[in-house]
Amino acid sequence: MEAAYNHNLYFSTMSPDGGGEPEGSLKVALDDAFGSFSQFKVQLSALAAGQFGSGWGWLSADKAGKLHLLSSPNQDNPLMEGGGKVPILGIDVWEHAYYLKYKNLRADYIKAFFDVVNWKEVSNNYEKLLKG
Ligand SMILES: [Fe+2]
Repeated sequence: MEAAYNHNLYFSTMSPDGGGEPEGSLKVALDDAFGSFSQFKVQLSALAAGQFGSGWGWLSADKAGKLHLLSSPNQDNPLMEGGGKVPILGIDVWEHAYYLKYKNLRADYIKAFFDVVNWKEVSNNYEKLLKG
């Protein structure tokens, strides 16, 4: 189940027209939590790159709208930890996600991932959570 949930989120937040930066309430929340969008990117990239073996890097939000970065092994995700953190963006760092194009260069894949993130969709996920 988790594998399907994780991949649905992953593919729904990617677009060939993606990239750039989020706007609106998500931008404000990212600035609050991490100082800036670029700091957020650095931190999530480092987490995802550092996840040992297969797994995921996540941007999650709680009901109060606070953002959290997490990584998890295999097909785990932040919902499984309890505590009400709901993923709004996930980076698949299983080797199958990047091996064809990037070989073992996970960091290059993560960098390229940010060029295809559909921030409108991530913002929608965030705003849906806030509305509860
Ligand atoms: Fe995957």
